[in-house]
Amino acid sequence: MKISTFVAISMFALSFPACHSFSSCATRHVPAPRGVVLRSAAVDESSSSPSSSSSSSSSSSSTALTTTTSSIYADPSRYLSSHPSNNVPPHIAALVGRGLHVRPDHPIGIVRAKIQEYFANLDDGVTYRIYDAEDPIVTTTQCFDDLRIPPDHPGRSPSDTYYVTDTTLLRTHTSAHQSEHLRSGDADAFLCAGDVYRRDEIDSSHYPAFHQLEGVKLFPVEQMRGAEGLRGDEWTDSSECKAIAADLKSTLEGLMDHLFGETEKRWSEDYFPFTTPSYELEIKYEGRWLEVLGCGVIHEEVLDMSSRGDRRGWAFGLGLERLAMILFEIPDIRLFWTDDARFVGQFKEGKIRKFVPYSKYPPVYKDIAFWIPENYIENDFYEMARGIAGDIIERMEMIDEFTNAKKGKTSKCYRITYRSMDRSLTNEEVDALQDELRVKVENLGVEVR
Ligand code: PHE
Repeated sequence: MKISTFVAISMFALSFPACHSFSSCATRHVPAPRGVVLRSAAVDESSSSPSSSSSSSSSSSSTALTTTTSSIYADPSRYLSSHPSNNVPPHIAALVGRGLHVRPDHPIGIVRAKIQEYFANLDDGVTYRIYDAEDPIVTTTQCFDDLRIPPDHPGRSPSDTYYVTDTTLLRTHTSAHQSEHLRSGDADAFLCAGDVYRRDEIDSSHYPAFHQLEGVKLFPVEQMRGAEGLRGDEWTDSSECKAIAADLKSTLEGLMDHLFGETEKRWSEDYFPFTTPSYELEIKYEGRWLEVLGCGVIHEEVLDMSSRGDRRGWAFGLGLERLAMILFEIPDIRLFWTDDARFVGQFKEGKIRKFVPYSKYPPVYKDIAFWIPENYIENDFYEMARGIAGDIIERMEMIDEFTNAKKGKTSKCYRITYRSMDRSLTNEEVDALQDELRVKVENLGVEVR
């Protein structure tokens, strides 16, 4: 899935949006570990329980914990508004506020705690303040403008982003909180974890909700004296900027060793509007290089806009699902959202152990083909199907596409894999769902064949 890493258009070069248009996918997408059974994780909407963010397991001496109650976030009505720009479907609103990252015995929470533990024990004399319960609704200013993401950037488009109103949205990355924490001046270093949302296809490694952890560190003014007032290339060429980049890299290499043991790593340059220079880190896992994070030296304009123009520092962002899928050998990203005891019962606070797959029920496959209009948005189709069938859709893939020159029309054919995690589906019930989809999909301007 990796395309070029030097794409000037890239906002979240790692992973956004939907991997197709930008460079790499580290902060969200995950290959299935080898030899494991793929299955879907049903999201039980009735169990969107409030999370207990107070249960954070990081209580080390050199981290300061900041949580607010996140239970108010588990209220779908917060995300469903009658605003004309609102494009949050109920099945997404039902995911918000689950707080997987603060559950001490959930793989996402276990990985988060392990990362915090690493930073708590670093001997860099820095206290990393912990934020893990910020409001997942942020403004376009927080998510984009404060980070120099241009107004016409495709990542802002409603085909990629869930808008609550025209100016508020479900955060697409935890970087959306960088500027407010910098501006508040509460901490010179912090870690910020949370659930993030991006409209996308759904399969074993893509899910429209996932988790990120952001890290930021500002350096003492005295250490940066030599570069005072430098901007642009003069700044990035300075030994001070290089020292920050070196510190960033060694800190993150140490983090990978903490998580995975000694692993092979490699760095490449990347592009984010909010850091320069920017890098991506890959680790070697089972013979393959996997991108695990994006990072860089914070752009001076981002610091200026946060009233911290007198300071310099680094930032990184990583995807917790990807790390957890590798560490626990969890084959399907949807499993993280299940409340099935066969899944959640396998994990204990502080322990990394291999997931043992449990039996799966048989799939039912259905194809649907239609002529698409010019303004066809694939994510709208994926989302419509999920709105009808929910999480018993395990996978949707486009299996055929052709253009009829005479008609000047393009046809797409999708195969939908239906599978329940807790029972066998009957052909009749799946037919009924598929029939409903065939009718409703015409609202997208397509012509079913
Ligand atoms: N926000 C970026 C993403 O979602 C990751 C990132 C964070 C990159 C901080 C640089 C600095 O892909």
